[in-house]
Formats: sequence, structure tokens, C-alpha cells
Amino acid sequence: MQQEKLAALHKKFDQINTSGLKKTATQAVFGHGNALSDIIFIGEAPGKSEDISGKPFVGASGKFLDEMLTSIKLSREDVYITNIVKYRPPENRDPSKDEIAACKAWLHAELQLIQPKLVITLGRYALNHFIPDVKIGEVHGKSFTKNIPGLGEQTFFALYHPAAALYNGNMRETLLKDFKKITRLLKK
Ligand code: URA
Repeated sequence: MQQEKLAALHKKFDQINTSGLKKTATQAVFGHGNALSDIIFIGEAPGKSEDISGKPFVGASGKFLDEMLTSIKLSREDVYITNIVKYRPPENRDPSKDEIAACKAWLHAELQLIQPKLVITLGRYALNHFIPDVKIGEVHGKSFTKNIPGLGEQTFFALYHPAAALYNGNMRETLLKDFKKITRLLKK
């Protein structure tokens, strides 16, 4: 039932979306995973592999994310994974303010439907979408509770983006360490 509602939600928001990225992207990349999960991971925007497959985090950073999930005894089927922007920006450039704004209602509708205990932001775009005045270098590995208009009180946990950490030894270590905190946060 919940999964069907989610499928309908994606179809509706894809149809009404006015983002200019629709012209260059192959397709929308819908959020994917368990619609009843307590945890939502939110990335930035689809890359090339995601644009082709229509699924979030299936490229190199997705494989790294899978490894980290396994390290805390979770799998993709246990969590829900989505992006703030649902269409691939050309050449994987950073999404613009307008492009993020064009997908905001869609992302927030996903959150309203799933009502997760924990929203895990991957990278600065997802973090600053909800909590604008913080720097990821200062707040990664920390959790926040914030009242978000239309969503209510929501707990967030900030992580570096797996793509940024993939080829950077120090950041990778930090991300692996921060990731391990998820288990404890879920028990709260
Ligand atoms: N990076 C993201 O932020 N999202 C994806 O889906 C893939 C890579």
C-alpha cells in the first residue's frame, strides 16, 4: 500500500515538474527502497549511471554506500534512498538553486509519506537544503532536530557525500567512522 502510494507520488511529481533539467536528462531518478523505513538517505543529484538506470546511487558512490550499509548490518532493502534533485545535471555539474527549488515539493512529499525517524544527508547540498547555515566540515557526524515547515520536527544526521570521500583517504576514514554512529542513533 505504502509502496503503491510512493509510486503514484513519483509519477505525479515527475509529470508536473518544471525543471529545465528534464530536457537534458534521460529520465527522472525516483527515490528507491523501503517505503516503511525509519531511515532516509538523501544525496545531491543523479549522475550518469543513475540517469541511465533510473535508480539512485548505482554508480561508484552507490557501491561505497552499499559497503557502508553492510558494515552496519543494513541493506538497501532496509532503507530508502533519494536525492534532492531528481534529474541529472549536465556533465554532473552542481545543481542550481532553481533546480533544487523545482524538486523541493517532491522531496518533501516523500518525507511526509515515509515519516522517517532519521534523515541522513549525504553531502553539503542535502544538508544545507534543510539546515542552511552550517558547514559540513564542522557538523558531519552530528545529529540535529529541526522543525521543518510542512514536515514538523525532524531529526537529521549529516554525513560527507560518498563521492567526495571515495578518493580522499582522510575523508573516507571520517565517513566510515561517522556512518557507524547510525546504529546508535536509531536506538534512541
Ligand atoms: N550522487 C548523488 O548524490 N546521487 C546519486 O544518486 C548518485 C550519485
